Amino acid sequence: MRRVVLNEGADLEGFRTAARRLVAEGVPPEETVWSSDGALPLFGLAPAAEPVSPLRLPRAAAEHIETVVRHRDSERFALLYQFVWRVLHGERRLLEVPSDPLVHRLERMARSVRRDIHKMHAFLRFRRDEEATDERFVAWFEPEHFILEAAAPFFVERFRALRWAILTPLGSAHWDGVALTFGPAADRSQAPGKDAWEDSWRGYYESVFNPARINARAMRAEMPKKYWRNLPEATAIPHLVRTARSRVTEMLEQEATMPAKRKPEAALDAMRAPAITSLKQLNKLLMASDPLVPGATQAVPGEGPEDAEIVFVGEQPGDQEDRQGRPFVGPAGQLFDRALAEAGLNREEVYVTNAVKHFKFEMRGKRRIHQKPTAGEVKHYRWWLEKELELIKPKLVVALGGTAVLAMTGKSIPIIRARGFARFPDGYDGYITVHPSYLLRLPDEAAKAAAYRQFVSDLEAIRTIAADHPRGRVRAPAAAE
Ligand code: URA
Repeated sequence: MRRVVLNEGADLEGFRTAARRLVAEGVPPEETVWSSDGALPLFGLAPAAEPVSPLRLPRAAAEHIETVVRHRDSERFALLYQFVWRVLHGERRLLEVPSDPLVHRLERMARSVRRDIHKMHAFLRFRRDEEATDERFVAWFEPEHFILEAAAPFFVERFRALRWAILTPLGSAHWDGVALTFGPAADRSQAPGKDAWEDSWRGYYESVFNPARINARAMRAEMPKKYWRNLPEATAIPHLVRTARSRVTEMLEQEATMPAKRKPEAALDAMRAPAITSLKQLNKLLMASDPLVPGATQAVPGEGPEDAEIVFVGEQPGDQEDRQGRPFVGPAGQLFDRALAEAGLNREEVYVTNAVKHFKFEMRGKRRIHQKPTAGEVKHYRWWLEKELELIKPKLVVALGGTAVLAMTGKSIPIIRARGFARFPDGYDGYITVHPSYLLRLPDEAAKAAAYRQFVSDLEAIRTIAADHPRGRVRAPAAAE
């Protein structure tokens, strides 16, 4: 029996070296025992007298190994060696046989690792280290697997100009603005608890939280607590839940003495709501409505299946969209489609809409130049978006860019800080990322390519989160301000 002891974690180099040696010496998997926790005596092979040649594996098999090696299952190395052995002994296309029990198990492990990476990209939040003498950010995260080295380069692309560290119980990553280095495991107490920006975001969340209609069970079920406890707004939840009852009493007392306020949108809502039971009806009504700012050819309704799991919200139709009457068909739309496909999402299966439903522009010569909608215009169109979400009941609502964030939260929130998983005040969960036209505007090609990769990575994270997220509102909508 040959005993192999590797370093703890994703010791890819150690695995490769050992597998090469064992294959070269013709040692079959059943004659090996693998360990990476120091429980076995050290590597049972004498140092190689001469260099051993690399394993000749198909590229997909090599990539699979790189992923699975990050899994926390203590059997991973033994399973991978079985896989290597079989591929090199007449089963070169083994990976293409999903019904094979070994392939099936390795695929499940690879999927779990990829999901963990996406969740880290989506749920990690940096906090300013108030104790550091210069500006520095620190994030605490608890991954399931040994993914830190695979996940960290994403944050280098995203926060290249900042200095930061990611601390986890399985290791740490440090970016000093020039180099990414990895260090030992850390403890939660080493990470800062909160920063000033977070206080204001949490304050906002508290102000829109409706204590009368909380559903604590649904809130816990929808996402493992270990993820949401690191989100700034989520740290307010236990307190809000605990104090909900007394806050309701307080609200009732106040309401009894307050004159009833009539809201024009609410009146409109009451007039229109009974008739609207499908997107078709809703959009018919939209097509018959006038633009708030004159000029647009037509209203541009959302597009996609009524049972879509993911709703993407853009800003407003552009020139092409206005002419064709369809969202995201111009240059930004084409880039969006490409990124969706690369992330494994099908445009036909998602719903794509806009915060504002008419094109607003200014004529410059013969060209119609896009004009950013005002907060008032976004608010005016909010009713349509609400109805779309109510009819579709998506799992996630994705805000593409600042205007969509404004539509979903009523606030201007910097994308750089809010990017990632988001809990919107109207009870939907979702994600905040950049607008595809931001990618088109970046002047330099390298920056454009990096930002595009980040965008695709966000879409991958969205796909992963949607897979195990419930549909519709996961909280009752917050009381309107
Ligand atoms: N930009 C948007 O926000 N929406 C579109 O439909 C097209 C471009």
